[in-house]
Amino acid sequence: MTTSTPTSATATPVSLLGLGPMGRALATAFLDAGHPLTVWNRTPGRTGTLSRRGAAVADGVEEAVRGGRVIVACLRDYAAVRAVLDPPPGDWTGRVLVNLGSGEPAQARSLARWADGHGIRYLDGAILSPTPAIGTPSAAVLYSGKAEVYEVVRNVVAAIGGTGGYVGADPGRAVAHEVALLDLFATSVNGLAHAFALAGAEGIAPGELAPYAAGIGGLLTEMAPRWAEQLAAGRFPGERSTVASAATALSHLVGTAAGHGLDLGALASAKRAADRLVTAGHGDDGLARLATVQHADGAEQGRQA
Ligand SMILES: NC(=O)c1ccc[n+]([C@@H]2O[C@H](COP(=O)([O-])OP(=O)(O)OC[C@H]3O[C@@H](n4cnc5c(N)ncnc54)[C@H](OP(=O)(O)O)[C@@H]3O)[C@@H](O)[C@H]2O)c1
Repeated sequence: MTTSTPTSATATPVSLLGLGPMGRALATAFLDAGHPLTVWNRTPGRTGTLSRRGAAVADGVEEAVRGGRVIVACLRDYAAVRAVLDPPPGDWTGRVLVNLGSGEPAQARSLARWADGHGIRYLDGAILSPTPAIGTPSAAVLYSGKAEVYEVVRNVVAAIGGTGGYVGADPGRAVAHEVALLDLFATSVNGLAHAFALAGAEGIAPGELAPYAAGIGGLLTEMAPRWAEQLAAGRFPGERSTVASAATALSHLVGTAAGHGLDLGALASAKRAADRLVTAGHGDDGLARLATVQHADGAEQGRQA
């Protein structure tokens, strides 16, 4: 397990708004860490075993706010946070709002401005891990917003566990990490689904493809840090594989998928990026250069330090 149990001097009353799967996991982590906990959920009756474990169940949001010094929201999205907290219920003097729901970076910035406008100390956060990781060393949670607000809550949110931490003053930065990683996850999941469909169309059973598919997934672990270095340096050595070679392979892939009537959306986008680089004379560069031509207008982006 994660954190040491707080002493009575460091235990902080926490209120948790939202008892979906993630909210319940957070509630358990706060209780495990010894913080007095008040919970509230829009739909009553979702407290499970939390009240037996000592959580106070608030009848309304105002009562929940009254019960905590750190108010943690874990709701579906930013619209839900607005629906629950705008206008702010109760007295927020001496309290901090930490929002851990998902959304868009611009929505996080907008909520931070809203909080400022109401004199509420605000910290945004993004949970990058699934519920079983919460409260363990493997939980990854990022926070962004005013550094002094993070300092106020860091010992409390330590209960959530794991790696991550403060990523900067821009309140949208934590959620920006989340959407970038969701981009990788969503396109990888779609790629896996598309590969099984293509293999199936060629008469290859899922079980035959699976061991090779798992090997491809493993390649990303090595590529991510190597690409990061190359993008920061603006140098793309092509000694392992080149964009021109990838463009040719993508032609084979698009041709085969088209022959089976499969959707070509993601592949067409990948091929467009590779073709743009070949046309611009960068065919001998390594694959990391593909990250520089992902804009819809085809403009090549500069160095990403
Ligand atoms: N589950 C995960 O593994 C995971 C991982 C990373 C991040 N997250 C993020 O954590 C957040 C919570 O996720 P979740 O898994 O707990 O389930 P969820 O289905 O995304 O959210 C459920 C919670 O949101 C509340 N809610 C939704 N709309 C509302 C509204 N208009 N007003 C008030 N409350 C509203 C629900 O209340 P009711 O019960 O009344 O409907 C419930 O408390 C999401 O932003 C999700 O993306 C989840």
